[in-house]
Amino acid sequence: MGFYNDLVVPRLVTCACGTKPVIRQRQKVVPRATGTVLEFGIGAGHNLPHYTAEQVDKVIGIDPCSTSWELASQRASDANVNVEFIQGSAEDIPLEDNSVDSVLITFTLCTVPNPQAALAEARRTLKPTGRLYFCEHGIAPDESVAKWQRRINPVWKRVFGGCHITRDTRGLLQEAGFTVDAVEQMYLPGTPSIAGFNTWGDASIA
Ligand SMILES: C[S@@+](CC[C@H](N)C(=O)[O-])C[C@H]1O[C@@H](n2cnc3c(N)ncnc32)[C@H](O)[C@@H]1O
Repeated sequence: MGFYNDLVVPRLVTCACGTKPVIRQRQKVVPRATGTVLEFGIGAGHNLPHYTAEQVDKVIGIDPCSTSWELASQRASDANVNVEFIQGSAEDIPLEDNSVDSVLITFTLCTVPNPQAALAEARRTLKPTGRLYFCEHGIAPDESVAKWQRRINPVWKRVFGGCHITRDTRGLLQEAGFTVDAVEQMYLPGTPSIAGFNTWGDASIA
């Protein structure tokens, strides 16, 4: 699985992450990040063009996948923001407590092996006044869709590099002690329902 996971999956995921409906989702959350931004699973850097340069000091992207970073390097050099890359896991972030103003998580909480450990790291690294901005796909509210998500998830995870289609984004944030201050949800147009139920918004430390 090394070749497939290391080289094929990042390119497959990069294609899925660059569709128009997904770009519109990015535009709803990324421009709101401020100060020092910690981006979980920066991947191929699809969020970089959407930051508001005037309000961002730097973006620190953490991702375990070196191929993603190679794919991101062009977007990083074109970006109007400073970008630093940490090759590592969101579950174990080599940054000080209370050191970032914003955490941005898009289409990554679905994939991190231990979302609760990653959210605990988000809490730890965020300043008390900081905000977490998120946009994720996950379990649908309609049982007719959710039933298929649960059935397909074991195979989906294997094909898409550990991505789950059954996670409850708002529930995970609340379990981790975040206050979800704003949340919106919808099925993304032009996207299969099992992969397209999106939840986005912002949260703060309770
Ligand atoms: C579907 S891609 C999304 C990439 C990017 N956030 C975006 O919105 O386009 C998921 C990303 O999560 C990364 N990832 C997987 N496990 C991770 C972990 N433990 N910590 C941080 N990132 C992780 C993957 O390498 C991949 O780049």
